[in-house]
Amino acid sequence: MPDAQAKSEDKAKDFFVDVPFETPGFFLKGSAHLDWGMKNRLSRIFNPKDGRTVMLAFDHGYIMGPTSGIERMDLAIPPLIPHVDCLMCTRGALKTCIPPETSKPVVLRSSAGATVLKELSNEVIGVTLEDALRFNAAAVTCQCYVGGPFEKESLANLCHLVNEGNRYGVPTLGVTAVGRELVRDARYLGLAGRVIAELGAHFNKTYYCEPGFDEVVAGTPIPVVIAGGKKLPEADALAMAYKAIDQGAVGVDMGRNIFLAEDPAAMAAAIRAVVHDNLKPDKAFQLYNDLKGKACGCGDSDCCQG
Ligand code: R5P
Repeated sequence: MPDAQAKSEDKAKDFFVDVPFETPGFFLKGSAHLDWGMKNRLSRIFNPKDGRTVMLAFDHGYIMGPTSGIERMDLAIPPLIPHVDCLMCTRGALKTCIPPETSKPVVLRSSAGATVLKELSNEVIGVTLEDALRFNAAAVTCQCYVGGPFEKESLANLCHLVNEGNRYGVPTLGVTAVGRELVRDARYLGLAGRVIAELGAHFNKTYYCEPGFDEVVAGTPIPVVIAGGKKLPEADALAMAYKAIDQGAVGVDMGRNIFLAEDPAAMAAAIRAVVHDNLKPDKAFQLYNDLKGKACGCGDSDCCQG
């Protein structure tokens, strides 16, 4: 009875022919036309609920050696992991100091070859895409020294990562790297962010500036996150993060202002409240002081119940 069986199966099917197939956009700026793998990786870095992220940057050692606050990454970083959305570091840091059990996505520092002892902009790409995939990277990243002595080389590094990443669905973070001689104003940061986006990067890390940060973001057609820069008083760092988010940034990729805070876990939690809950700076500083020296109440078993 094959015909009868086929008929009864047909009856059970419902193709919802009256319901149009939706073609939704994507929650991240400039990312609607990316393919599935790219979007999936970006959705691990940026929370799809609000499109924002708190990235913890601890890649400083690749140019600065044992940076204050992260002399022992194995001690400093794991307690902060529950409080952030994403880790940004080198493969050396990952394989030596970060428990592979973590489910947090990693943006892998892939440029190499310079140190603070010489010209910083003279970098190469030191990590193959194959190795980035072996480390399960959610994205790869390099410095972009627009206007620097090795501008062309650093932008070629960015293009290389974008080209390789596009083959495998791995997004690239282009970092606006400001050399000693360059001014961090809106004109420069806007120029650099735009160049980085036009060369194909999927998101841009830059610095907060005033006035004009809103125009830096508006002229950069990809998501923008800010670095923290040199250590500031905690209240000032929280205020800077608030102003950046208020003017269009979709997160932070912050290092020293978290791991050099008097209580790094409390600072990460306060930054998180600014980024994801739009907490005003005074309230965020109050939250920081409330959490300082205490378990943060996040309920994560690696943190408060550990
Ligand atoms: C700079 O070269 C590194 O990419 C850092 O990750 C970046 O500067 C963010 O760290 P911080 O918030 O300490 O400036």
